[in-house]
Amino acid sequence: SAIKKYQFDIQVKNVSRLCNAKPIVTVNGMFPGPTIYVREGDRVLINVTNNAQYNMSIHWHGLKQQRNGWADGPAYITQCPIKTGNSYTYDITVTGQRGTLWWHAHILWLRATVYGAFVIMPKLGTPFPFPQPNLEANIVLGEWWNSDVETIVNQANKLGLPPQTSDAHTINGKPGPLFPCSDKHTYALEVESGKTYLLRIINAALNDELFFAIAGHSLTVVEIDAVYTKPFTTTAILIAPGQTTNVLVKADQAPGRYFMAARPFMDAPIPVDNKTVTAILQYKGIPTTILPSLPTLPLPNDTNFALSYNNKLRSLNTPLFPTNVPIKIDRHLFYTIGLGANPCASCLNGTQLTASLNNITFVMPKTGLLQAHYFNIPGVFTADFPDRPAVPFNYTGVPLTANLATTLGTRLSKLAFNSTVELVLQDTNMLTVESHPFHLHGYNFFVVGTGIGNFDPKNDPLKYNLIDPPERNTVGVPTGGWAAIRFRADNPGVWFMHCHLELHTMWGLKMAFVVENGKSAEESILPPPADLPPC
Ligand code: C2O
Repeated sequence: SAIKKYQFDIQVKNVSRLCNAKPIVTVNGMFPGPTIYVREGDRVLINVTNNAQYNMSIHWHGLKQQRNGWADGPAYITQCPIKTGNSYTYDITVTGQRGTLWWHAHILWLRATVYGAFVIMPKLGTPFPFPQPNLEANIVLGEWWNSDVETIVNQANKLGLPPQTSDAHTINGKPGPLFPCSDKHTYALEVESGKTYLLRIINAALNDELFFAIAGHSLTVVEIDAVYTKPFTTTAILIAPGQTTNVLVKADQAPGRYFMAARPFMDAPIPVDNKTVTAILQYKGIPTTILPSLPTLPLPNDTNFALSYNNKLRSLNTPLFPTNVPIKIDRHLFYTIGLGANPCASCLNGTQLTASLNNITFVMPKTGLLQAHYFNIPGVFTADFPDRPAVPFNYTGVPLTANLATTLGTRLSKLAFNSTVELVLQDTNMLTVESHPFHLHGYNFFVVGTGIGNFDPKNDPLKYNLIDPPERNTVGVPTGGWAAIRFRADNPGVWFMHCHLELHTMWGLKMAFVVENGKSAEESILPPPADLPPC
């Protein structure tokens, strides 16, 4: 293992897309930002220097950060922001993980432009558990707004309404030729006939789950969220914000030009956003004047495709890559996901949209929660997040308006070190049903079951997959349904959990776990680094 160093300079740069230029926050002037390449076992030091007029904090999405929440990055959860003119070095040791992850700003909506890939190669001498690809490429999916994103969000907050959707989706920062003025802003991947490519696909979009496909070519899924899967072949993948998917693609079609494309999966009764971003799979030597053909993507409301796709995901579960799903459970948690509205004095129409878990809308603290926990600072949070809703109701049935208003609080749930946890995330029909990609920091978890409607605590657990469930860091809770996840609380610290739709995070669809120290020093939180940004 080696020590790798990166310098991240946060700077504002003018970037033009969709016929106009605007200043955006970037890392090193790049959009998307630089890729981090490390090998399993490496230590990586990333010095972030903030030269922009925005507070900054960067999260290494999916990195476990064993005992080291100080390097996790969500603002006011594990650190205070890096202020203009200041620096902080994220000190990350990559243990027990290999595959595709990513990094992004974790403060306000700045991840709209501040994101990039984090690639972990397997240890030297450990091959992939699938046929060795000839070459690899990153496919980072994102969103583009013509206006300043923070301004849009602030205006929406004043009105108490959702902000407008993005003006384009992007592949590696480029919208592709179906958007105006975008011929030059089109990503192209050149391939050679007969060769196999490993595509590392990342969904960095703020608010959209996406379908992705390549015309004429099938995709073999081999890894999700940096965990190997049993390979399976599909015409399209579904990927939620926060998730990553590695696929093998063989250049086995008539040499030509083929579109790869992504479009939202949106089965909720809300305004449909069905813009299609395209990029080009370009066979070597084929004239670039030839018109590519479009792939057939599932329709935006194709729930059946989504369900059957997610059911195909299975952990590899081999002696080398075992699936250690907890069988005996110490703590059963049941959290309802609600969208609702609260009174708002400063909002134009007197109410504001909110989101909640167990009817609690999370209030961001002003001090980092990890600091408050580590240094015993009183008054920052309470550790009384309820294990289940106070009053059970028909979650996905006719909504009870009584449940629309939520209570506010910075409430955390305390977990004993090394205890095994099952958490059922239940979507509700409070304002509307919607799919929610839930992300847990500091851990991978096993998705042992999902279903439509209300979770049935008697019968649904009998159908769990406890053999080879997918292991990941972000799970799509089905629209009007539930997902059951399991993990072992063996990483002490304070770990954020939230919906990875930025809109919902902003509305309060978030909470955090405090995982207590174990008995020995080796089972306890590491001391904070000297340059940790002060609050
Ligand atoms: Cu990728 Cu808390 O986020």
